Amino acid sequence: MKKILILNGPNLNLLGTREPALYGNTTLPELEALCQATASRLGFAAECFQSNWEGALIDKIHDYGRLYQAGAALGCVFNPGALTHTSIALFDAIQAVAGLPVIECHISNVHARESFRQHSWVSPAAAGIVIGFGVHGYALAIEGLVRKYGAP
Ligand code: DQA
Repeated sequence: MKKILILNGPNLNLLGTREPALYGNTTLPELEALCQATASRLGFAAECFQSNWEGALIDKIHDYGRLYQAGAALGCVFNPGALTHTSIALFDAIQAVAGLPVIECHISNVHARESFRQHSWVSPAAAGIVIGFGVHGYALAIEGLVRKYGAP
């Protein structure tokens, strides 16, 4: 069964207690269970990984680049958190792993928030973007990835 990486960046380990008015009450383990159920219903296996460290996220993207080349991964759903707005290294990592489709996902509508959240370094490298649907955006992103890139 092909894998889908669910990748979460800084501070998303605090989902459930972090600014619930913006990010809701769902915890990261609950979100990951939703992703696993969605992927499994569509015939894929979700691997979930969260890190507060940019380099760990880059290493994971590299790992999935190799899995994708080997035909073992479909793609990635990625919420880079605040690194969205600062990290050219994440843009480079996605560009470097030729072909791996990455769907950028944000829980909140970043375009309705502070101006510094309205630029994403990741978007130009993304295969698609899901913004502002709360944690259900991850399920939409998985469904979009599967519709666009493949049957199991
Ligand atoms: C976020 C939006 C970012 O601006 C913020 O830094 C986050 C979460 C979102 O999911 O809405 O950490 O990516």
